[in-house]
Amino acid sequence: MAIEKSNNPTEFRAFEEAGWNENIAGYDDAFGGVSRQTVGPALDAAGVTAGMRVLDVCCGPAMLAQGAIARGARATGLDFAAVTALAKRLVPQAEFTPGDAQALPFPDNSFDAVVCGYGLMHVPDPDQALREMRRVLRPGGHVAVSVWEAATPHNGFGLIYAGVRAKGHLNVPLPHGADFFQFGSEPKMAAALSETGFADVKTRLLKQDWRVREPSDITNAVLKGAVRSRAVLSAQSASEREAIHDYLDGVLRSLPRDGADYLVPLPAILGSGAKPRS
Ligand SMILES: C[S@@+](CC[C@H](N)C(=O)[O-])C[C@H]1O[C@@H](n2cnc3c(N)ncnc32)[C@H](O)[C@@H]1O
Repeated sequence: MAIEKSNNPTEFRAFEEAGWNENIAGYDDAFGGVSRQTVGPALDAAGVTAGMRVLDVCCGPAMLAQGAIARGARATGLDFAAVTALAKRLVPQAEFTPGDAQALPFPDNSFDAVVCGYGLMHVPDPDQALREMRRVLRPGGHVAVSVWEAATPHNGFGLIYAGVRAKGHLNVPLPHGADFFQFGSEPKMAAALSETGFADVKTRLLKQDWRVREPSDITNAVLKGAVRSRAVLSAQSASEREAIHDYLDGVLRSLPRDGADYLVPLPAILGSGAKPRS
């Protein structure tokens, strides 16, 4: 499988950077409760233990760096400058370096483990980003990468996009980014890691739940905590948004509850691999 890239990388990167500078705190509020469910499995997959040097690529609020520090590792987070400023406040025990996942500002072989939570689909050239993760890993060290499972009728992203497709429109002009879900199944994740030179590739589907009380929690999460899907939702007319809200309301009522919360499935695909020793 050839890994798709943006055909307009400069504009797409600027679009992502501007979006995350504005929305990273909202992402943590809206999706942090789900992405923190991935931290333990991702650190296990990367073999993170005390004393290791760990790099958290596309760190956002740095939940992976925080988890690595809790295991006694030394963690460095990398993201856009405004995002690392927030991360530094949230996780002062970690080091942070502003930068681009496609050109990591670290020497070869400088980390024992590299993790990347939900970052790959935001990078214009994810193939290059994976190769950079491999370059900075020491031989024998492991990478662990998570992405959202591709949209299905049974998961949260499927629900959002089905709502927009049914009650609004998806033809919103955006700078071209690679398919958001190109790594969103176990075989696709495994193929991407193998193609970019990792050995001992393993994948898992992680069942995770997103707790929401009402449909506006979903639309507000997208508007305040996402970038591409926010642009799509923002482009809907007021009447389309109302119809999408009603659609989501109907679907939510069919989902299981825990107290006042509906449990929306938001599974992850977690992939890991080792840098070959020779
Ligand atoms: C969805 S958030 C993931 C946050 C966190 N890692 C987690 O596990 O939830 C995606 C992050 O990727 C970062 N990002 C996007 N493009 C990037 C790039 N080219 N280089 C570095 N970071 C990037 C964004 O700024 C954002 O913080």
